[in-house]
Amino acid sequence: MQTLNVELGERSYPILIGSGLLGDAGAYGELAENRQVLIVTNTTIAPLYLSTVEQALSATKLRSLALADGESHKTLHTAAEIFDALMADSFARDCVIVALGGGVIGDMAGFAAAAYQRGVDFIQIPTTLLAQVDSSVGGKTAVNHPRGKNMIGAFHQPRRVLIDTDVLATLPDRELSAGLAEVIKYGLIRDLPFLAWLEDNLERLLQRDRDALTHAIAESCRNKAEVVAADERESGQRALLNLGHTFGHAIEAGLGYGEWLHGEAVAAGMCVAARMSQALGLVSQADVQRVERLFAAAGLPIHPPVGLGPDRALELMGHDKKVLGGRIRLVLLRQVGEAFVTGDYDSAVLERILADNFSLQA
Ligand code: NAD
Ligand code: GLY
Repeated sequence: MQTLNVELGERSYPILIGSGLLGDAGAYGELAENRQVLIVTNTTIAPLYLSTVEQALSATKLRSLALADGESHKTLHTAAEIFDALMADSFARDCVIVALGGGVIGDMAGFAAAAYQRGVDFIQIPTTLLAQVDSSVGGKTAVNHPRGKNMIGAFHQPRRVLIDTDVLATLPDRELSAGLAEVIKYGLIRDLPFLAWLEDNLERLLQRDRDALTHAIAESCRNKAEVVAADERESGQRALLNLGHTFGHAIEAGLGYGEWLHGEAVAAGMCVAARMSQALGLVSQADVQRVERLFAAAGLPIHPPVGLGPDRALELMGHDKKVLGGRIRLVLLRQVGEAFVTGDYDSAVLERILADNFSLQA
């Protein structure tokens, strides 16, 4: 088992990475002992892993809630089911919420933990690759609004993240690829050696080689923990973690949540960001092709879907949380392995990039 730490002073917490952690009572530490615990999961994950987690916990009161599965259910309406369950069973302020699932469950259960009685403890047990490398770490919690992704939420750090690599065995291939999008992101924004390692080991990752996956998860979490420790509330460099997300969120909201997976949308979005970086003279065509090659090899889309159109894409990008003073700020590549955030670009270039990438017709 490996342990990493997210260093945030009194809100610091460990990330445990290993095989068999779900059923290992010791991995939960004192957090879930003699406490009231609500496990929040969904109807797909519950039959696979819920009983293992339930048996590992020695809670004074243990309840479980299996929500409907899917990004389209990441809403205030579904989050209210968590509040209803907590209230129905008189959960007190010293209770613990355990989020057992992918990023949708983690974000929603985390949001409920942030808001219930103004904040209760929660543990992240991420079960998708995407959640293991990104969403379970860093304390961003949210639900979607029909007009914008993750628009209603809070910063609320988990007390512990338990990453059991065994659960990836049941993950569908498409979800594995979606997780690789966020893994590749760390290489592109700040870790060129990791990017080169990914290029060399992508096939092993797609074959679910345990050592390769564990290395990719640990390197991703190390990168994320460093960024979050330096900028917890995204006043600076944390925004780099949003490479491709402004374009990607427009794809997700524009198509209807769940049509494209989050990782698919941000993969295409990162390719658009690379093309915009080239259009601004920052990176070469060979760099863009390198980025596209890696996403394509990971089984991810490198172009946005046809049908959205540039005007709708621009409108949706206007809801991005990085918008400042009415200006859409973008994460771009200064070079492969180094990203930066800027609102200082020629709008005509963005309009051209949107026209070239978001076509209305095939
Ligand atoms: P998801 O939570 O919808 O999970 C994907 C699918 O896999 C679901 O159907 C789920 O039931 C299933 N599943 C999960 N674990 C499984 C397993 N072990 N075996 C079989 N099936 C399993 O999607 P996701 O990609 O994990 O997360 C995407 C969400 O994460 C988006 O809403 C995105 O906005 C959010 N996100 C948040 C952050 C953050 O910092 N908070 C970062 C990145 C993404
Ligand atoms: N996934 C973006 C962030 O955590 O900041």
